[in-house]
Amino acid sequence: MGSLKNDEETEQIEGKSMEAILYVNGVRRVLPDGLAHMTLLEYLRDVGLTGTKLGCGEGGCGACTVMISNYDRRSKTCLHYAVNACLAPLYSVEGMHVITIEGVGNRKLGLHPVQKSLASLHGSQCGFCTPGFIMSMYALLRSSKNPPSEEEIEECLAGNLCRCTGYRPIIDAFRVFAKTDDALYSGLPSLSLQDGQNICPSTGKPCSCGSKAKNATAICDSNRYRPVSFSDIDGSKYVDKELIFPPELSLRKTAPLKLTGARGLIWYRPVRLQQLLEIKAKYPDAKLLVGNTEVGIEMRLKGLEYWVLISVAQIPELNVLHVDDNGIEIGSAVRLSELLRLFRSVIKERPDHETSACKAFVEQLKWFAGTQIRNVACVGGNICTASPISDLNPLWMSSSAEFRVIDDEKNVRTVLAEDFFIGYRSVDLRRNEILLSVFLPWTRPLEYVKEFKQAHRRDDDIALVNAGMRVFLEEKGQELIVSDASIAYGGVAALSFCARKTKEFLIGKVWNYDLLQDALKVIQNDVLIREDAPGGMVEFRNSLTLSFFFKFFLWVSHQISIVRPAVESIPPSHFSAVQPVSRPSRIGCQDYETVKQGTSVGSSEIHLSAKMQVTGEAEYTDDIPVPPNTLHAALVLSKVPHARILAVDDAAAKASPGFAGLFLAKDVPANNKIGPIVADEELFATDVVTCVGQVIGVVVADTHENAKTAAGKVHVEYEKLPAILSIKEAIDAKSFHPNTEKWLRKGDVELCFESGQCDRIIEGEVQMGGQEHFYLEPHGSLVWTVDGGSEVHMVSSTQAPQKHQQYVSRVLGLPMSKVVCKTKRIGGGFGGKETRSGFVAAVASVPSYLLNRPVKLILDRDVDMMITGHRHSFLGKYKVGFTNEGKVLALDLEIYNNGGNSLDLSLSVVERAMFHSDNVYEIPNMRIVGKVCFTNFPSNTAFRGFGGPQGMLITENWMQRIAAELDKSPEEIQEMNFQVEGSITHYGQRLEYCTLHQLWAELKTSCDFLKVRREVDEFNRDNRWKKRGIAMVPTKFGISFTTKFLNQAGALVHVYTDGTVLVTHGGVEMGQGLHTKVAQIAATAFGIPLSSVYISETSTDKVPNASPTAASASSDMYGAAVLDACEQIKARMEPVASKHNFSSFAELASACHLQRIDLSAHGFHIVPDIGFDWKTGKGTAFRYYTYGSAFAEVEIDTLTGDFHTRTADVILDLGYSLNPSIDVGQIEGAFIQGLGWVALEELKWGDAAHRWIRPGTLFTAGPGNYKIPSVNDIPFKFKVSLLKGHPNVKAIHSSKAVGEPPFFLASAVFFGIKDAIRAARAEVGLKEWFPLDSPATPERIRMACLDDFSSPFVSSGFHPKLSV
Ligand SMILES: Cc1cc2nc3c(=O)[nH]c(=O)nc-3n(C[C@H](O)[C@H](O)[C@H](O)COP(=O)(O)OP(=O)(O)OC[C@H]3O[C@@H](n4cnc5c(N)ncnc54)[C@H](O)[C@@H]3O)c2cc1C
Ligand code: FES
Ligand code: FES
Repeated sequence: MGSLKNDEETEQIEGKSMEAILYVNGVRRVLPDGLAHMTLLEYLRDVGLTGTKLGCGEGGCGACTVMISNYDRRSKTCLHYAVNACLAPLYSVEGMHVITIEGVGNRKLGLHPVQKSLASLHGSQCGFCTPGFIMSMYALLRSSKNPPSEEEIEECLAGNLCRCTGYRPIIDAFRVFAKTDDALYSGLPSLSLQDGQNICPSTGKPCSCGSKAKNATAICDSNRYRPVSFSDIDGSKYVDKELIFPPELSLRKTAPLKLTGARGLIWYRPVRLQQLLEIKAKYPDAKLLVGNTEVGIEMRLKGLEYWVLISVAQIPELNVLHVDDNGIEIGSAVRLSELLRLFRSVIKERPDHETSACKAFVEQLKWFAGTQIRNVACVGGNICTASPISDLNPLWMSSSAEFRVIDDEKNVRTVLAEDFFIGYRSVDLRRNEILLSVFLPWTRPLEYVKEFKQAHRRDDDIALVNAGMRVFLEEKGQELIVSDASIAYGGVAALSFCARKTKEFLIGKVWNYDLLQDALKVIQNDVLIREDAPGGMVEFRNSLTLSFFFKFFLWVSHQISIVRPAVESIPPSHFSAVQPVSRPSRIGCQDYETVKQGTSVGSSEIHLSAKMQVTGEAEYTDDIPVPPNTLHAALVLSKVPHARILAVDDAAAKASPGFAGLFLAKDVPANNKIGPIVADEELFATDVVTCVGQVIGVVVADTHENAKTAAGKVHVEYEKLPAILSIKEAIDAKSFHPNTEKWLRKGDVELCFESGQCDRIIEGEVQMGGQEHFYLEPHGSLVWTVDGGSEVHMVSSTQAPQKHQQYVSRVLGLPMSKVVCKTKRIGGGFGGKETRSGFVAAVASVPSYLLNRPVKLILDRDVDMMITGHRHSFLGKYKVGFTNEGKVLALDLEIYNNGGNSLDLSLSVVERAMFHSDNVYEIPNMRIVGKVCFTNFPSNTAFRGFGGPQGMLITENWMQRIAAELDKSPEEIQEMNFQVEGSITHYGQRLEYCTLHQLWAELKTSCDFLKVRREVDEFNRDNRWKKRGIAMVPTKFGISFTTKFLNQAGALVHVYTDGTVLVTHGGVEMGQGLHTKVAQIAATAFGIPLSSVYISETSTDKVPNASPTAASASSDMYGAAVLDACEQIKARMEPVASKHNFSSFAELASACHLQRIDLSAHGFHIVPDIGFDWKTGKGTAFRYYTYGSAFAEVEIDTLTGDFHTRTADVILDLGYSLNPSIDVGQIEGAFIQGLGWVALEELKWGDAAHRWIRPGTLFTAGPGNYKIPSVNDIPFKFKVSLLKGHPNVKAIHSSKAVGEPPFFLASAVFFGIKDAIRAARAEVGLKEWFPLDSPATPERIRMACLDDFSSPFVSSGFHPKLSV
């Protein structure tokens, strides 16, 4: 053991460090001392590189992706890889080159081909996720010697989330860089297509998604998808512009570092093991770091404090990768992506039987986090964190790995992985020890290792239950005997759990079905999860433990059958249990016609800001440079759902660094009550809090971190009061928001039920959970005063700048004319920034006004998710009467939504649910009552569809049930009850221009419904453990705000003398392409190119009193208002224009100006002929309807609940589309968001169903626990069509609204899943109808598929718990 005392480098590390440097986009930067607390993202944004976004701060969204280039001395190569800048400590990239979106390309010097492709193929809507996607793709291209495969491209995007696009256009934009069959891309003639075969415009390949290329009027233009040669990127063409690796960094020696950070934090970077051991001896509690993907989360989200951090990433002894005849030694600092590469290469090189464990690791690592996390997270970090749901630890345990541990005196001991985990996040490491390396032995002939994992989402999600299983078999005569075994589970206990009794049982047994049956019984007792276990889903998790073992048994038996004649044959249909999930490349197809009107309307123009978005130049609220003296705000939030506030103690907060003030209800200058319709919310709670997350006060400080820290130190004392935490509790307690009971009636329901006309009457309940908006850009406002507080101005991320103006004016007591709110663009809204953003501005305005300083309030992702409301959960109680044929005669319906603690828009939401409760069906007798429940949750709010989808989902549930009761197909019942042209709805509106029947018929043909039905039935017959299901769903979505006065719009149009046009209107650009469509309308109106029209921002001082951008109606309304303004200007220009033949619009404009003609006009539009009277329950609620239909085919794994959508085929009637590509983008985005709602996204609250969560608290408050669809969740085949030849006479340029209508169509996936479950239940003789709550998560799917592995834990009526 050598002493380190005289070691030169150790002295250096304790003394003054060398100069710490970093290159960013080719520019050398010296890193000052004192920033050890800072992330790379904070640093980049602080130095003005705001193209890299903060979406979540927890590695879950990819918005902060940058590329790191590092010189690897061992291989003497430069490594390029994508990382999440939000988790990377600043000093961890010392000596490296960071390339951000700004370094890739820009509009002045030229876009990089990746940027160009994404912009031109409509892959950027709101643009907030866009830089992250570009950086992931860019890093893949720079790190690949050869063009990547399509699979690699999709894999590299798994760590990037997009909430707008539905991913298809992003994949299409990037797949042009993939290695593929050149012939497929070099033009159609080289293809020998069969007659009638299609060329898919997305892939350029033959496809079967139904569109006949030669018949499609506009879409199948393969030029749009021209492949880009890889050499364009890394080769001669683009390389001149590509940033090179700074020579200084390849020459520079990596030296030890000792740096400091805020609050006394010390950062060490030893570069030798000895140095590390020395520091560890000095600071036994120091945290070792490589990826910081655990420690970063602990420090930032869990509030843990560590004072000494040791970055061990660059210590050669911990980066060992040594392969010999016994196995592989893996250094503890080896990054997971490196590990994956190593395993892949040894699998190729070593004999097959030796690498069974390696293959299991490869499979498990595929689903481990996203690429950015795997690129930095290390083996030792995963092991030593000892998470009970670690994906790798059960595999190390089962594959007999050994951990080598070294102490500060260099003594090395070896611990079996099986024995290393000793308690919750506790391992067999003494304070003076670290993990040196892991030794993984080769497997032997007849030794098999297999991995298992089930999560909410397949990609980038932590496991619910995982496992590693191994058996070693020996031949004895004809039989195979278990000679050794190891069965380890994660997610079943407080630590990775070795099922020792199971192991004991297995050893010595013959490998056959008897062993299986008996082992399952042993596991059942060995691995039983406690009823009250954290994480819940106990029945599901218990079932998974058995399902996994069953799968293991079948898999091993199958492996044996490959090398030996099967000892015991397994029915072929059972192999469906072990077929791996394959990841085929996604195929997208779009079918539409282009009806061009004038210069621009009808063209597939790209989003006006696309080029700015792909280069990171587009600014969002948080990117705007703050004025000097700006303070940062953080909220003081209630921690209990219902309580009296007894005291607020701010002493500790006041002493906190950087503190500048705490503001409470008493400090509000004017009115503390706000609300969009009824002012029933307190800006700051006064005496009583009514939900967790209610704002009690706001702290301002010099930095965001300091504001958060100080806010955390405000101590509030409560007297707890009883809380209502579900719709059912609200109904029992009659807890409803005042005056929110609404009725709609048609015919006479009672009479119909009593008259005997109904052959059958059914009753039931449908419940569905809520949904988080998950816009990528969180809520935020920057507020400042002008003239000492005489005026207040703000920039806000909102769909309703006018609401911000109104709230701030009310709270401060200023006239609205002195308050201005501007919004340039927002990074997604989806309804979540319609009313719930208002309080953010109002809260920030109080300290800004009182201190006369700018204040910025940006919500952290977890706070945003916790407090700003969601899509409402709903409960529907129905009674339906129908004939034996299937004709619906009467519907009696009660609808309840969970309003939360204030009314917000909940009444309008329940009303829309009531309007849409007929979906597309003719129901002669209807009675609907809707009520808004008051509960102790944060107020729920608007979300795409605004209650319509919930209403229609209830309808489709009972329609499906009628089909089941009558043993008919759902489509037969649906078609039999369709409304027709002239039908009168239950609220008295006559259907005109109803295209439902055309859409349905076209869809049925397009998806070849009957054929697919036969194929699915056949598949289900042949496969016991995988089932497929299909469904078709129609929709009719009413377009207009149901509150009449909101259906008005204003615009301001200026024509300048150079012929360019500046348009301002009341709508907000949130990615939906509103500004692009409106600009197209202006361009067509003036007969000028689109490039001559510009829309800068939305501002309350340009267009006053604007309605929120919502209800899908903005293009209709603002387009018409802009057209009105354009027509006025054109009329004024006409006398001049008619006298001369001007060569350009600029000449005309100049001439008009010289003639003193006003070239500016205000336009205005009201939606005509609408009006609904709730007193009579009759009227014209909507200007028109957008109709659509969708088909989906899904496949489920009945043993785990895993599912994927094989096909989605969607058709909508959008009249003459203003911009077909933008409309297709809206449809795809809405569909995938809807898919999230029906199948993936589950909000879990602390309620009676989830007692392991603190009452009233949202458990799923971040991307770590709340899973929106990722790139891997989109349908394998995704076709979108627009109905041709049906202009809409009721809206501008014959178009139709698109934003919300397609959302509900994703319920085809839900009913497809249900169809598949039905097939699974039929296998065990369960034929009758069954309820399925939405979302149909793996838990609900698996538990509905009853079998021998779930029956020990549940009965047939079991309902997994749901927060409703
Ligand atoms: C978005 C996201 C997704 C994730 N997905 C998954 C997933 O799918 N599956 C999964 O299993 N995990 C997942 N994780 C957890 C995490 O990525 C892993 O645990 C990771 O391997 C930790 O490695 P690290 O290098 O980042 O650890 P760090 O945060 O750097 O360190 C973690 C801990 O390990 C200790 N440590 C590190 N090296 C040593 C050593 N040599 N000796 C002793 N102690 C040491 C440190 O002191 C620290 O306490 C995810 C995390 C995030 C943020
Ligand atoms: S902000 Fe970094 S991953 Fe979301
Ligand atoms: S474009 Fe991806 S989140 Fe908006």
